[in-house]
Amino acid sequence: MSLKLGDQFPNFQLKTTIGDIQLHEWLGDSWGILFSHPADYTPVCTTELSRAAKLAPDFAKRNTKLIGLSCDSLDNHHGWIKDLQAYSGPNFQCTGDKCKIIPHGEFAFPIIDDSDRKLAKELGMIDPAEFDNKGLPLTARAVFFIGPDKKVKASLLYPATTGRNFDEILRLLDSLQLSAKLPIATPVDWKVGDKVMVPPSVKDEDVQKFFPQGVQVKNDLPSGKGYIRMAQV
Ligand code: BEZ
Repeated sequence: MSLKLGDQFPNFQLKTTIGDIQLHEWLGDSWGILFSHPADYTPVCTTELSRAAKLAPDFAKRNTKLIGLSCDSLDNHHGWIKDLQAYSGPNFQCTGDKCKIIPHGEFAFPIIDDSDRKLAKELGMIDPAEFDNKGLPLTARAVFFIGPDKKVKASLLYPATTGRNFDEILRLLDSLQLSAKLPIATPVDWKVGDKVMVPPSVKDEDVQKFFPQGVQVKNDLPSGKGYIRMAQV
């Protein structure tokens, strides 16, 4: 199975560094980001998970829970967490605006033990070019954005050789959350505070209702069709 946009994200029973959890119950009403890395104790993954941990307050502000995954055992995860904490410096565990410094040996978010490769296979996360020292396949750098309705809102899939950009992950999350609230789309290189686009699905007669501050329409293109409608929200 590979998940498509709008599909229900399965309610997996997961073995994690914070104990056994049922994904949907653990997520509750939050947004979720489930992301895989190829292997513990590897350099690029260390930079990625350290950055993700540093951003814990930014994800918490966005009511979003992170959960990592690799095909390593819980013992490996727990050992590596100590390296991650040392590499990134002090981390915080946050719920909403409330953050506390994480005790040594704990981490900003749970990491799943997928050593049986169940999720890796079921969610199409295997990197065909990467194997462990026993010749078993490893996970690529997948990211699933899960809405509070447990549906897939976006996904990314990078090979093991390219580390992800967590500024882009936050930017994408901001766009998903804003477009879940308002009938908008975000343009190229958009970031919070920039103007948004009014998509074609919004009829001219509904524009005032959704964008009381007004909409700027670009009418000077050769077609004269006025399909570029921008608004500040
Ligand atoms: C890394 O995280 O550095 C890495 C892991 C697997 C393949 C390539 C790089």
